[in-house]
Amino acid sequence: MRETKFGVAHADAERLYRRAAAVPELEVVGIGCHIGSLLNEAAPYVAAAQRLVEMVDRLESAGVRLRHIDVGGGIGIRYKDEATQPIEAFVRGTLAALGRRPQTVVFDPGRSIVGNAGVLLTRVEYVKPGVARNFLVVDAAMNDLIRPPLYGAWHDVRPVREMEAGAAAAVYDVVGPVCESADFLAKERRLAAREGDLLAVLSAGAYGMVMSSNYNSRPRAAEILVAGGEARLVRRRESVEELFAAERTPG
Ligand SMILES: Cc1ncc(COP(=O)(O)O)c(C=O)c1O
Repeated sequence: MRETKFGVAHADAERLYRRAAAVPELEVVGIGCHIGSLLNEAAPYVAAAQRLVEMVDRLESAGVRLRHIDVGGGIGIRYKDEATQPIEAFVRGTLAALGRRPQTVVFDPGRSIVGNAGVLLTRVEYVKPGVARNFLVVDAAMNDLIRPPLYGAWHDVRPVREMEAGAAAAVYDVVGPVCESADFLAKERRLAAREGDLLAVLSAGAYGMVMSSNYNSRPRAAEILVAGGEARLVRRRESVEELFAAERTPG
């Protein structure tokens, strides 16, 4: 987008390539684009690849040979009820737009590989009825999953175990124990949860752990890999001592 900090303007790119190609210390190797995140349809992605390849051909006519074409990422996943096209539509459409050519083609499918492969498990510490809203205070927080406060992102929240008949459902904000009003994982969800229950925050496999922090002196959670019927610890839980291990008292 024109408003964002990334890349160079399409109109400037060819001039910059020619200039770079004329500098002996620089080796021009490829071209890349990334038109944005959470694309649910392949059409804009394929259109961008088409524009990219037209530029590659014009550069080639001007004597600038590229070795790779990187068509970017941004392939959408379903967080709520989005109608997402499968990744095949993106790949097939792009390869058709690129046609047969010598360059290596690079895709950057970040979130679409792992986003829905991960859940954040959290326990309900308190059920806190309020005047304007009801809260489920859980033991995960914005430091573990910052997408909701950062971009208003929506993550599904489900009880790990089905409720026994008769457990009363209510509408809750699911919030953490961090000292920020922005510390929420989900808002206005109908849930029948009690203290001690485990909840799963879905679609936490991408932009979850990697965006986590130690804010509020909170050690990061453990990561468990589940493969088939087997669960393995692949990142141990951090300790409080580790949070301060790099700190020094001056003098
Ligand atoms: C160049 C580039 N490729 C790939 C990605 C990954 O995007 P996503 O995880 O939405 O597929 C990004 C993210 O901003 C990016 O800037």
